[in-house]
Order: sequence, then C-alpha cells, then structure tokens
Amino acid sequence: MSRALKPCVLLVLLFLLGLLFAFNSFFANYGNKVAITQITHQSLRPKLTEHDGLYSAADMNKHLSFLRKGFRRSLDKYDASRRNFGKKFNDAVENEPLHILDLSEEILQQKIVCKNELFLLIQVHSSPENFMSRQAIRLTWGSMEHFIGNRQQNNGGKFRSWKTVFLIGQSSNTKINHLVKQEASIYKDIVIGSFEDTYRNLYMKMIFSINWPLDQKCHASYILKTDEDCFVNMGNLLNWLSSYHEANGTRPLYAGRVQIGTNVIRDNKSRYYISKKDHPANKFHAYVSGGGYVISGNLLPLLVEVSRRSPVFPNEDALLGSLMHRLGVQPTNNSKFLPLILCFFLYGEDAEADSFRETHMCGLSRQIILHGVRDKSQLEMHFNSALLNYFPTFCSSQTNYDEMRDQCEDE
Ligand SMILES: *[C@@H]1O[C@H](CO)[C@@H](O)[C@H](O)[C@H]1NC(C)=O
Ligand SMILES: *[C@@H]1O[C@H](CO)[C@@H](O)[C@H](O)[C@H]1NC(C)=O
Ligand SMILES: *[C@@H]1O[C@H](CO)[C@@H](O)[C@H](O)[C@H]1NC(C)=O
Repeated sequence: MSRALKPCVLLVLLFLLGLLFAFNSFFANYGNKVAITQITHQSLRPKLTEHDGLYSAADMNKHLSFLRKGFRRSLDKYDASRRNFGKKFNDAVENEPLHILDLSEEILQQKIVCKNELFLLIQVHSSPENFMSRQAIRLTWGSMEHFIGNRQQNNGGKFRSWKTVFLIGQSSNTKINHLVKQEASIYKDIVIGSFEDTYRNLYMKMIFSINWPLDQKCHASYILKTDEDCFVNMGNLLNWLSSYHEANGTRPLYAGRVQIGTNVIRDNKSRYYISKKDHPANKFHAYVSGGGYVISGNLLPLLVEVSRRSPVFPNEDALLGSLMHRLGVQPTNNSKFLPLILCFFLYGEDAEADSFRETHMCGLSRQIILHGVRDKSQLEMHFNSALLNYFPTFCSSQTNYDEMRDQCEDE
C-alpha cells in the first residue's frame, strides 16, 4: 500500500468507528419502540436464535438493526415531506377555489429518463393532490434505491431493473397543477396528461399510459400498472416475473386478478355507467383488476394500434380487457395479485387495520400486490415484509391465508 493511501485508511477506520457508535445509540434509543411494529424484536428473538439454527444472534441483530435504521430513515423523510411539500399540497386543497380547466394551457412535458432497457416499468395512477401517497411509494417499493433484500435472489443471478412513474392528469385547482409541475421537475418521475383527472376520465389515463412510453422511447420488458393506494412486494413480484420471463418470456403476458362475466352498468346515476351506444354488449370481456396487473412491454405498440380503431368506453380496466381480446391475448389469473380486493381492514391507520395487519402479516408478506395500503402504511408494509423475507422461517408455521380471506369477505 502506498504512503499516500494511509491517511485515507485511517479516515475510513474513524468513519467506521463513528458508524458503530451511531448504530449502538440507535439501538439504545429505538430498541423496541421502532414501529417495524407488529413483529417486535422480542417476539422474533427466541424463535430464531434458539430453535432455528439458521441465524446467529449477531446475524439477526445486524439485520434487524439494518431494517430498523432503514425504517426510521424513511419515516423521518416521510414526515419531513409532510411538513414541507405535503403542507403546500394540503393548503392548496383546502384554500384554493376550483377553476374551469383550460386544457389548452401548455403542459410541461417532463422527459422521463429510462436508461438502457428496463426489466420493469411501473406506472402508478395517481391523483394530482395525493403527494404524500406518491412520497410513500418513492420511499419504499417504488425506488430501486430503497429495495431491501437480495436483488439477485431466485432471479438466476440476474439483476432486474425497474423504474416507477406516476401518471397524473389535470386538476381544476390551478395551485395543485402548479405544485405537481414543481414536483415533476424535482423527482423526474411524473408524466402529466392533458386531460382532467377525474374518475370518469381514468380510461384516458389508461390510453395515455400505453402511448407515452412509446413517445418517449422508454422500453421495458414488462409493465406493471398499479394505483397509489396499493402495496407492491417487489421481491415477490420480481421473483415471479423473472421465472415467467425465463420460462415463457416470448409469450405475451396480461396477468393479475381476472374478472370474468362482469356486467356493464346501465344505471345512468352510477359513476360506472356506460351507455348502450358506447358498449352494446351487456357483459365485458374478461379483464384483470386495475389495482395491479402486469403486461408484456412488446404489447404496447399493438395496443396503441388497436385502440385507435376500437370504440372506447369509460371503464379503463374493462377497456384494456377488450383491447387485449381484440389482440387475442388471454388474461392470466394470479392469486397473489389483490387477494383481498374487497377487504377494507387493510385500509387506514386505525386500530382495526393495525391489528389485522399484525395478525396476518405472514400471509400478507407472501402476496404480490395488496389493495388499500397508502401513505404511512406503505412504509410499515414494506419494512415488515422485508423483515419476514430476511427471516422466512419465522412464518413457516403460521401462514393462515384462508382464515385471512374469510375475515375479509364478510365485509
Ligand atoms: C409457463 O407456461 C406454462 C404453460 O402455460 C405454465 O404451465 C407455467 O406455469 C409457466 N411458467 C411460469 C414460470 O410462469
Ligand atoms: C337516465 O335514465 C332514466 C331511466 O332509464 C331516463 O329517464 C333519464 O332520462 C336518463 N337520464 C339521463 C341524463 O340520461
Ligand atoms: C382468480 O384467483 C382468485 C384467487 O385464487 C380466485 O378467487 C378467483 O375466482 C380467480 N378468478 C378466476 C376468473 O378464475
């Protein structure tokens, strides 16, 4: 080693010592309080150190402390965002009058940088005002930087890249539109459509979502569409998708929770209303639920082409099913997508939701996409799932997924 390097080594050593110190004080402060809630340090320790043999106590403490640190850091960033940008959005929602939208106004087109070929492009449909939901996703599964766990695990040793983008239309609150533009220039992960962001217009967002990646030359082998109130277990998703890719990669994929024989709603007071003129048949073709589905990237040009010569109607998920039908692509049912689609226990931060998650965390951590998780709950789900991925044997004896489902379908 050269002389010039020695001071560096000393510095690195000092730095490591500092880290060790920070680590210890962290542990002292947050020992059992950190809300990687539900599954506490104590409840894990005896199970894994004495009977399991897979992990030494030192190993476990290292992982736990790493996870707690990550969780704490994300919570802090999340709270800081709430105080800053989050507050601006809140004020705008509460204090700004709504305007008649002028859609001719210039929309800042944020170029999304898609470096190289992506394995997975994640498109999150988001409402303009829900900054905190986007922030929670940025701080958890949405960013590769916050991925915890082994990226290569079960992927045949291959690294799989992904990128998350939020799709947002126009709000009739001009202040919100302004804030969204600012947010887009800071995070560079927002594409803004030139349509009003309303429930009835979601089908426009869907059409937009198949067009912009081609316009901006953002190529991905697969595309996941999900919503801002859904939790994605990236480890499970990438494992499943990688094995699909290895086995059946050339076959077009359209996978999620399949809905068959759904009736078209003709009641003109319903927000799901579709006229006979827009959709003459009384049932939809099979489609997958919009909370989360995956399609092959190379279907995009075909979808765009077929969408230009097909009638559109205001039910974005059924509309995609209908376009897929025209292309001859059948949907694949995957039971790990949106297993508790009607289960509102998961939603919110109230005691009932917490105790539901606590009881069923083992089952939940095996799923791929869950509906009804937003804001701070995203952080909890993300770190608890990571914890259970680190210590898989913790769950092996108590995955009672059926029981979980029964509870929900009573709703
Ligand atoms: C590949 O396709 C076959 C035939 O449809 C199916 O049985 C198998 O489960 C698929 N493999 C994966 C990993 O999805
Ligand atoms: C809604 O439907 C009712 C009964 O089918 C009809 O009388 C009414 O004119 C409709 N309203 C609109 C706005 O189309
Ligand atoms: C898809 O899978 C879920 C979960 O296993 C099941 O409840 C549902 O009935 C399936 N849907 C279809 C259309 O097979």
